[in-house]
Amino acid sequence: MADADNTEAKNYAADVPMRSEPFFLKGSNNLDWGMKNRLAAIFNPSSGRTVMLAFDHGYFLGPTSGLERVDLNIVPLIQYADTLMLTRGILRTSIPPTYTRGIVLRASGGPSILKELSNEEIAVSIDEAIRLNVAAMAVQVFVGGEHETRSVHNMTRLVDMGNRHGIATLAVTAVGTEMVRDAKYMRLATRMCAELGATYVKTYYVDEGFETVTAACPVPIVIAGGKKLPEAEALQLAHNAVQQGAAGVDMGRNIFQSEAPVAMIQAVRGVVHKNLSPKEAYDLYLTLKDGDEHPADS
Ligand code: R5P
Repeated sequence: MADADNTEAKNYAADVPMRSEPFFLKGSNNLDWGMKNRLAAIFNPSSGRTVMLAFDHGYFLGPTSGLERVDLNIVPLIQYADTLMLTRGILRTSIPPTYTRGIVLRASGGPSILKELSNEEIAVSIDEAIRLNVAAMAVQVFVGGEHETRSVHNMTRLVDMGNRHGIATLAVTAVGTEMVRDAKYMRLATRMCAELGATYVKTYYVDEGFETVTAACPVPIVIAGGKKLPEAEALQLAHNAVQQGAAGVDMGRNIFQSEAPVAMIQAVRGVVHKNLSPKEAYDLYLTLKDGDEHPADS
């Protein structure tokens, strides 16, 4: 109970104006407190960037390489991630609830790799997202794909649901194999997602003109790692992306399929949060690698 005989308060610092600072993330200044608080559990407020560890691939691929045993392959990595991108099934079954950083929940799904992938629906309710205490919901957007309009509407419905409760929406631009992966396409897809309400957008890095993609998108962009590359190349990719305006990476295969995943995620962190050069990061990877091994191999 507060002191009943409290002396009169007088330390008002009347000559010190109250600070009013912009929020650290691009395009996020006008969001509500709860949404900003959740975004701060995804992005590191000091660097303004994130290392999202993505392992939601099973939602259409099943147990792909490196994800055979999430408890053995992924759980040892989670302490190094700023946030986890995953499905609710894996969250409930395999991730300790003591994990306190933001959760980015895969919220769309339907078709398997055997069918037309753009034929997705929203695959989670807002009640479930709240119950799981997620920071963001992720939805695939197939610009130019067969079910383009439906996937865009999946996103806008999630944005409406999420905004009502202060939960962010990550739009994941899915590029069909028949599409050209260039800056022109990425500008179109990312800008559409931002204009239609996505809180942040995931896309792929392109060698030519990626800085125009980040410049034209009024919300943060993170890049997917894509197919497994040699570690030095994956670190170069992450470096290029953040130096050209990406607010981090949403990386899966290039971490969990690495020969030394614990070393790799720490090297990626060096690139994203400390601006390590690709060479410095690769040297760090090699140094840490000695003590690292695939848990499932042991
Ligand atoms: C697709 O399965 C998911 O959206 C992944 O989370 C995304 O592609 C990032 O993973 P990766 O770095 O393996 O491409």
